Amino acid sequence: MQAEAPEDQAALWNGTAGHAWVDGQDLLDRLFAPFERLLVEGATAQAAREVLDIGCGTGSTTVAIARSLGPASRCTGVDISAPMIEAARARAGWEGATADFLLADAETHRFEQDRFDRIVSRFGVMFFGGPIAAFANLRRSARRGAALDLIAWRSAEDNPFMTAAERAAAPLLPCLPTRKPDAPGQFGFADPERVRLILEQGGWSGIALRPLDIPCAMPEAELERYFTRLGPLGRVIGQVEPPVRDRLIEAVRAAFDRYLHQKEVRFTAACWRIAGFAG
Ligand SMILES: C[S@@+](CC[C@H](N)C(=O)[O-])C[C@H]1O[C@@H](n2cnc3c(N)ncnc32)[C@H](O)[C@@H]1O
Repeated sequence: MQAEAPEDQAALWNGTAGHAWVDGQDLLDRLFAPFERLLVEGATAQAAREVLDIGCGTGSTTVAIARSLGPASRCTGVDISAPMIEAARARAGWEGATADFLLADAETHRFEQDRFDRIVSRFGVMFFGGPIAAFANLRRSARRGAALDLIAWRSAEDNPFMTAAERAAAPLLPCLPTRKPDAPGQFGFADPERVRLILEQGGWSGIALRPLDIPCAMPEAELERYFTRLGPLGRVIGQVEPPVRDRLIEAVRAAFDRYLHQKEVRFTAACWRIAGFAG
């Protein structure tokens, strides 16, 4: 069984992960709505005029900010994933929102210089292969004084829910993709000192990381869809033969028992809210 190279982020997000996020858009939007609200509140309090949403995915946050700011402001979502950008454009269409969506690598794309007065992200900045150069690139696109408002995961240890599926599956699937500390990926921004250094060396000022512990919930009926499509297990389970697959699902399902409360799956998302500005 072959897993996609975890370091090839473009392949991953244009392949299994990107399609899983598109298919799970409704579930993920509801699950991560509390984070979106924080980013919308921040942009609205600033009355931002030009917002960039990094790794915007299927565009929920970009569209929510665009709706809140109204027509005097321009919101742009950038993402490396073609299926996710296509879904984001469709969302803007059906929600009647004016937001632009750009299919590009935020790490290297030549954005218009001095354009944005707010750069936001919900879980979209931990995947850069060269994070310092990426944040220097984003700094060039920002006006002097522009605000940075990013949400990223703290460590895997702080987020046991997020690794419950792969830990339960590992004995049955020895070739499951593993996570490497500080490597591009979900927990790539777990270390606060590393994040501070990346942003400072990328030319940003006033860096502050604040822990965010947000209760999240999904209906129990969504749990299997969640763990069979997303994360490292979701990337490989499609290649597993039915008898092993059934045992796998049973084992993983049991690992989530501790998160079940009256037909709901509940967990706390341990994240950073990362602030900075273009000095
Ligand atoms: C965990 S998803 C989050 C999506 C969205 N922000 C949300 O909260 O629904 C991470 C997103 O980052 C995007 N991404 C990863 N590397 C990127 C890069 N170098 N440039 C732009 N987007 C990138 C992925 O394609 C994916 O859509």
